[in-house]
Amino acid sequence: MFSSTPELRANLRARRLAGLLAALAFAGALVLAACSGSTGSTTSSGSASGGASSGSSSASSNSGGTVSFANEVLPILQSRCGSCHGSGQTQAGLDLTSYSAVMAGSMHGAVVSAGDANSSTLIQMIASGRMPKRGPSLQPNQIQTITNWVAEGAPNN
Ligand code: HEC
Repeated sequence: MFSSTPELRANLRARRLAGLLAALAFAGALVLAACSGSTGSTTSSGSASGGASSGSSSASSNSGGTVSFANEVLPILQSRCGSCHGSGQTQAGLDLTSYSAVMAGSMHGAVVSAGDANSSTLIQMIASGRMPKRGPSLQPNQIQTITNWVAEGAPNN
């Protein structure tokens, strides 16, 4: 009897406290929800347009950034062109397995016109699908990478 009453009171108090806390938490959650609702709409519209711009310009994220000859261009040339334009054979006098060799060009002259992708023979060849002479054409993103590198001035980077 004596021990159960204070226990009940303590229980009641605890429940009231819990109820109060729950109410506070609920109100807090509402405020938070309201806030995040309004900021959420701005951030989501912001990220939507951001996503659209970055999506439409995956090419421009390439052209925007600097293409590395050593890390991005040379591996493509070596793996897809090296069999005919490499140390084994240099078709048309063209070696594509090092920076200096690429810039030295072929028996007909330069194949890369730094800063001018359109007039670069190398770009014309891969964009038209004439090169690689055998096997499938380069992937569109590989062509884009090499084109961007030339457009960026064909640096030895
Ligand atoms: C199977 C062999 C082969 C492969 C692989 C190959 N080429 Fe060629 N390439 C040739 C031959 C042969 C020529 C001479 C012209 C012709 O026959 O079309 C040539 C010519 C060229 C020329 C013209 C050179 C000039 O000034 O006349 C360029 C540029 C060129 N290749 C770039 C490439 C690139 C870039 C790749 C890789 C994406 C590549 N080639 C892969 C065989 C090949």
